[in-house]
Amino acid sequence: MSKIKKGPGIIVAIDDPHIDEIYRVSREISHAKGNFVLKVGRTVEMEHQIGIISGIKFVSGLPVIYDGKIADIPPISARIAEKAYTVGADAVIVHGFVGLDVVEAVVNLDMGDVIVVVEMSNPGWYDLHFHHGEMISGLMDIGIDGVVLPATRPDLIQNLKSMLDEDVYIISPGIGAQGASAGDGFSGGADYEIIGRTLCGSYDVRIDAEYYYDWGEYWARDRRHNDL
Ligand code: XMP
Repeated sequence: MSKIKKGPGIIVAIDDPHIDEIYRVSREISHAKGNFVLKVGRTVEMEHQIGIISGIKFVSGLPVIYDGKIADIPPISARIAEKAYTVGADAVIVHGFVGLDVVEAVVNLDMGDVIVVVEMSNPGWYDLHFHHGEMISGLMDIGIDGVVLPATRPDLIQNLKSMLDEDVYIISPGIGAQGASAGDGFSGGADYEIIGRTLCGSYDVRIDAEYYYDWGEYWARDRRHNDL
């Protein structure tokens, strides 16, 4: 069973490496009403070492994703993931384009959730013409917990969602700084929207986090209503 529950929820991307900011945001989010998860990126890890994850978990009491965008050969990818799980990460993000054997090596650790990047949100990604359909069916056979799909393309989320197993969650970046609006990811069927700079730089992180979370609730209600 996955450690991170199905949404709706907000994943707060902590990428600013200033230690005061890391703990300010973690504390503020821990007081917000809703379903929140924290995501720790490489910029933070490079500044403070991987052990920062334990500190963030201790201060916030929230699930933490290690977003190392793991993309190496299977044994090295597994070792990186193992390190993150050992210091308390509930989930790790792995790149899918490197191959299913890499994803499988991380899943086989059985130490926490495995979230796979299927589609990126940056415009250059779409120059590559990637075969996401083939990748998704392989990922479902391996048994992963979540996928990353871009909030900048709600149409894509909607199309690919039908290929995912029921219990696989979708996390979706691109809100704010990358051009998507609050709720765009949820409108396509994402379980979580990932929000970084727009939220962490705000004056009142807690209030703004609750605003973003409300969009998730809105779309979850809308979906329940349409299912009736
Ligand atoms: P901002 O500040 O743009 O931060 O709200 C977004 C966060 O999400 C990550 N990100 C991505 N992660 N696939 C991913 O797996 C993507 O397409 C993608 N786009 C953004 C980014 O690292 C940051 O933490």
